[in-house]
Amino acid sequence: MNARRRFVLSGPVQTRPVADDAGARPPTPADAAALGALLLDAYRGTLDDEGETPEDARRIVREIFAGAAGTMMWRVSEVTEREGRIVAAALVTLWQDLPLLAQVVTAPDWQRRGLARAGVQRVINRLAAGDETVVRLVVTQGNAQAEALYESLGFKPEAQPPLSSG
Ligand SMILES: CC(C)(COP(=O)(O)OP(=O)(O)OC[C@H]1O[C@@H](n2cnc3c(N)ncnc32)[C@H](O)[C@@H]1OP(=O)(O)O)[C@@H](O)C(=O)NCCC(=O)NCCS
Repeated sequence: MNARRRFVLSGPVQTRPVADDAGARPPTPADAAALGALLLDAYRGTLDDEGETPEDARRIVREIFAGAAGTMMWRVSEVTEREGRIVAAALVTLWQDLPLLAQVVTAPDWQRRGLARAGVQRVINRLAAGDETVVRLVVTQGNAQAEALYESLGFKPEAQPPLSSG
């Protein structure tokens, strides 16, 4: 069993400029299949890879869209298209009355080019425009890329025990 410790992080909703908005748009339900493929690709071989099939990944996206992680915030969420396909996404829900970054992913061949940072910051800027002050997410301990990104944006672990999953 692949026991993992996951933490809820909270970050400040602090507006910052984003240089490049190219290809960013709100998601729609019609993006579920493309987003499923993106999730599968992005998580493959990572700590969060549980051997999901393409159908599992599409179901995960459809469930998020349907409210499994809280009510989908369609106009705050976004996908980024490059070269005719979705290569990054930041999906936001309203969970326990606070915005939650339910998914932040970048396709492996598009990583380390600033897409996640730009996407998360645009999400934060839209939340700021909606008078939100805090945004939360769940991260697996040891997900170094994600931890570095979130720490740089001011996210800190909430004072609660880690969530466990096996
Ligand atoms: C985490 C993830 C979304 C980052 O996407 P990305 O588009 O490559 O990120 P960016 O290029 O915007 O980089 C943002 C910051 O993340 C950190 N980071 C990204 N890749 C990193 C790496 N390989 N090593 C160390 N830090 C890294 C850095 O702090 C980076 O800022 P910097 O470039 O100014 O140093 C991507 O690695 C991913 O999809 N991982 C699998 C899915 C996942 O774990 N999602 C997060 C769930 S909580």
